[in-house]
Amino acid sequence: GAIGAAGLALPFGTGSGAALETGEASQWTREHANSIELTDDTTAPVIDENSDVISDDYWIWDTWPLRYRDGSIAKIDGWQVVFSLTASKDLVPGARHNEATIRYFYSRNGHDWQEGGTAFENPLGHHQWAGSAMYDQSEDQIYHFYTATSPEPEFRQRLALGKGASLRTSPHGVELTGDQEHVIIGEADGDLYQTLEQSREQGIVYAFRDPWYFEHPETGEDLVVFEGNTPTGGDSPDDPQSYNGNVGVMRATNDELTEWELLPPNLEAIEVNQQLERPHYVFNNGKWYLFVLSHEFTFAPGLSGPDALYGFVSDSLYGEYEPLNGSGLVLANPESAPFQAYSWLAMPHGNDVLIESFENFRGLDDTSRGEISLDEVGHLPPEEQKELFGGTLAPSLKLQLEGTKTRIVSELNDGHFLPSGGSNKGTNGNNQ
Ligand code: FRU
Repeated sequence: GAIGAAGLALPFGTGSGAALETGEASQWTREHANSIELTDDTTAPVIDENSDVISDDYWIWDTWPLRYRDGSIAKIDGWQVVFSLTASKDLVPGARHNEATIRYFYSRNGHDWQEGGTAFENPLGHHQWAGSAMYDQSEDQIYHFYTATSPEPEFRQRLALGKGASLRTSPHGVELTGDQEHVIIGEADGDLYQTLEQSREQGIVYAFRDPWYFEHPETGEDLVVFEGNTPTGGDSPDDPQSYNGNVGVMRATNDELTEWELLPPNLEAIEVNQQLERPHYVFNNGKWYLFVLSHEFTFAPGLSGPDALYGFVSDSLYGEYEPLNGSGLVLANPESAPFQAYSWLAMPHGNDVLIESFENFRGLDDTSRGEISLDEVGHLPPEEQKELFGGTLAPSLKLQLEGTKTRIVSELNDGHFLPSGGSNKGTNGNNQ
């Protein structure tokens, strides 16, 4: 509820503006998705085979930077900090999801990442999936939003917050300090957001995860977007209604950010796609650019699209979202390496956008081409599976935004998450 800790009715969030108005979800329609087409402006260059490896011990995949409350990327005494899902390289890549542990890495130049340690001492969940981390400078504490997930094969997901940690820096590095407390801040309610139980008949995947914190740019309210599903009653993988991905929204109802209320989704992909993963915003020229990731295998029957970053633009949280480039496609893997990268994260970078991702499976092709398919990887001997998997940061890309159009304009050096001076290779991103 909206009642504060002391029993007082507190205004929402910390902002002074008018209360936020919710509205109908915009739709990513079959018509939009039917026009998905890889062009020079939306296709990533093929990743070099010999890119840097960030860690010898751990696979690294979904990654997010420590940001200040206003969304800008934190730089503390010259250090940047990123958090990643990690798992031991003793595991085959497919086994990593069930063992995901959030670890941190730090760097002075956005390139030479050093391994810190685990982000949490006693997190909730059997393992933890993606999230976002906000550093409040005046309180000197990190609010770390993440997904508390139960063991395979159930993978029940709840949204969690770990707070209380701080950072100690030295000329040699960064250390996370302090005691953390962990609270569940969101669970699927079965009405706005489909529960695990409701999703069982669908026979595909279920989502209630990936909380991404942001401050409302006008009202200052504390908000989270996350990946959910709309209950549609789909009852088999052949039923288009089983493909019901949405972008969920939550609002904090206390200043401690420990209590939240679910708001309706603001984007749905019903009969289009089952997963709108890791939703996040870039605010640019008064516009709300909403980005999500999705996979080839979660498009509804009759539709097809690549493993890619997709995006939508609106002028408010619950405004009319228009798919970028007509179809929603922003950044696809090249056709010759359709699974080379995944889990793209778009971040403001001057007036442009910087996109970070991880190296996924190289050398794999569509089944149609008769090479090894993604499904077949899991049946290869462990060493061969590991050979094909990157499990490290991919070269970041730079994207230009112009209203509803986007364009990949350059590639940064291997492993570059955040640019440092002179790191730009200046390639135009079209050399597939
Ligand atoms: C995206 C993703 C996230 C999830 C994590 C699980 O790559 O599927 O949605 O948090 O990976 O490993």
